[in-house]
Amino acid sequence: MTAITVTPCTGPGAEIGNVDLSQPLSDEDFATIRQAFADHGLIFFRDQTITPEQHIAFAERWGDINVNRFFTPVDGYPEIAEVRKEPDQKTNIGGGWHTDHSYDQEPAMGSILVARELPPAGGDTMFADMAAAYDALDAETKAKLDGLEAVHSSKHIFGGESAYKDSGDVGERLHNADAADALDDVVHPVVITHPLSGKKILYVNPAFTLRIKGWTPEASLALLGPLYGHAMQDEFVTRFEWKPGSIAFWDNRATWHYALNDYQGERRLMHRITLEGCALAA
Ligand code: SIN
Repeated sequence: MTAITVTPCTGPGAEIGNVDLSQPLSDEDFATIRQAFADHGLIFFRDQTITPEQHIAFAERWGDINVNRFFTPVDGYPEIAEVRKEPDQKTNIGGGWHTDHSYDQEPAMGSILVARELPPAGGDTMFADMAAAYDALDAETKAKLDGLEAVHSSKHIFGGESAYKDSGDVGERLHNADAADALDDVVHPVVITHPLSGKKILYVNPAFTLRIKGWTPEASLALLGPLYGHAMQDEFVTRFEWKPGSIAFWDNRATWHYALNDYQGERRLMHRITLEGCALAA
């Protein structure tokens, strides 16, 4: 087979070509993909045909699998979470800007999402590059963020009184949507140094970040709102159109993502594996 290719997308991310993820990767090919992942924080694969076992094997090449405590697992594969929307369901999972597991003390390093059933049209996922978003901030804003920490939580999303629980149809599919599983709030620096790339990253997100530590909700919103608006600008965003055989692998420390919900009346089924991460530092 010819050498693996790494083709940067027009926006954030890169597409990896000439690779078959159903086969074990050589050390050399894995090193190429790992470098692309570190450089871009977001990589895509097309035209793959992989079984759940091969999905798990690819994930294990990167590290330990983190079993998400909220999502329904794929039957027979506790390591794989189902991201499913049925034709009669109105709300989707992940339909807002977020990064997976920022509510954990050691947030998941990455998520590998495999398309299993796609709607005839729609259901794209948008990704934002949070290193580029940080870089583009002006010096005054960067100075203001220096040393700040933010509080992140899963309770308002997955807990007993949460948004998903209230939305009924999604709540039914989150198998552990219970306050007991939504752990205590955690604190991370607002700007982290990425553990792989060493880049500075804006590490707050609209879904799971509650407030700046020690600040009122109002003062927090006054800072976070404009930061979120800044990060959502087109220049930092890639829109990924799923096709049969597509796989996206994003770094949760370096990106946000947003699953578009524009395919009412159709089924969309994805398989997601999240990988264990580490504590984050400024
Ligand atoms: C997610 O938020 O992890 C799911 C993304 C998607 O379904 O596109």
